[in-house]
Amino acid sequence: MAKRIGILTSGGDCPGLNAAIRGVAKASYHLFGDAEIVGITDGFGGLINAQYRTMGKEEFSGILTLGGTILRTSRQGKATSGQNTGKYLDTFKAMAKNYEKMQLDCLVVLGGNGTHAAAGILALQGLNIVVLPKTIDNDIFGTEVTFGYQSAVNIATDVIDRVHTTAISHSRVLIVELMGNTAGWLTLSAGLAGGADVILLPEIPYTIGSIADVINDRYESGKHFSIIAIAEGARSVSDDVNQNLKGKHYSVGYKLADDLLKVIDIDIRVVVPGHYQRGGAPCPYDRVLATQIGVHAAKLIEQHRFGRAVAVKNGVITSNKLSDVAGKTKTIPLDAPLLDVGRNIGISFGEA
Ligand code: F6P
Repeated sequence: MAKRIGILTSGGDCPGLNAAIRGVAKASYHLFGDAEIVGITDGFGGLINAQYRTMGKEEFSGILTLGGTILRTSRQGKATSGQNTGKYLDTFKAMAKNYEKMQLDCLVVLGGNGTHAAAGILALQGLNIVVLPKTIDNDIFGTEVTFGYQSAVNIATDVIDRVHTTAISHSRVLIVELMGNTAGWLTLSAGLAGGADVILLPEIPYTIGSIADVINDRYESGKHFSIIAIAEGARSVSDDVNQNLKGKHYSVGYKLADDLLKVIDIDIRVVVPGHYQRGGAPCPYDRVLATQIGVHAAKLIEQHRFGRAVAVKNGVITSNKLSDVAGKTKTIPLDAPLLDVGRNIGISFGEA
C-alpha cells in the first residue's frame, strides 16, 4: 500500500513554505516511489474540519520560487497554541480522528513556535509527526535558523537602505519598525546590515534619554540624520512588561516617535513595512535551506523517526526531539556576539 503523507502549513505565511513543501514531496516520491501526498488546507483548521485532497505530482512543480503557501494557512489561536490543552482537548481529538480518517501514515507540519507546541500535543496522542521550522522571526528553539528569516532580513535591510536617502536629504530621524514577534533577530540583523544608528530589541529595554543622546551627539558631530530600527516587541524601561503592546493597530515605532519628540527638536518620520517583510519570493538562501529541510523530513519518514522537529545545528540539517523544543522560544541572549559587534562599531541598543 502506498505511503500516505499528510502535509499542512500553519501560522503566519513566509517565503520558503512552497520550496519546503516541494522538497518534502519530491524527496518522498524519490524515496518511496508510491508515496501519496495528502494536502491539508488552511493549517490546523483543515485538520480540524477534514479539508484535504490527495495531490498530484504536477502540483509540486513550478512552486520553488513562489511566496506564501499553496496549501493556505491559518492561525487557530488558543485552540492549538498548546496552552490550556485540557480546555481544547476535543479539538486535538478531532484532529487525531481526522488523521485516522485520512488514513495517513504520518503528518508533516510546517510552522513556527505555536505550531511546534500543537504538533507536540498531537505527537503525544500517537500521531506520527515531523515538524519543519518556518518563520521570519527566527525564534524557534533548538535551531540556528528558520526558513523565511533570511528573505525577511533582505527585505527589511532594503527598507533601511532606502530610508537613508530621505533621512539624509531632509536631516530627519527615520524610525523603521520591524516584525519579529517577541524576539529581536530580524531587527538585529537588518539593523546591522542596513547601518542603523540605534537598534531597539525586545530583549533590551530602552530609555528615551539614551536614544536622544545618540541623535543629539550625531547632530553635533555634523551627522544631521539618524536611523533607528525598532523591533515590534521592543519596550522602554518604563513600559509595563505585562501590557500587551501587540494590539491590533499598535505601533511601537509611532510611540517611540511621540516620546522622542518630547525631548528633541528634530523632524521624525516612521516607516512600518509590516507584512511586506514576509511577502514575495524566497531569497536563494531560503530556497536552498527550505529544500534541504524538506528532504530531511522525507528521510526522517523513511527511517520511521517521528516526533521530530527538523533543525539546523552548526550549519548541518538535523532534528530535535519535538518534546524538547515544543513550547519554547529562542530570543537573543544578552551575551550574543552580534550585540558585541554592534557595540564595537558604535551602535546604541538604547540602554541607559
Ligand atoms: O510570526 C510571523 C509574524 O509576521 C510576526 O513577526 C508578527 O508579529 C506576526 O506574524 C503577525 O501576524 P499576523 O500576520 O497574524 O498579523
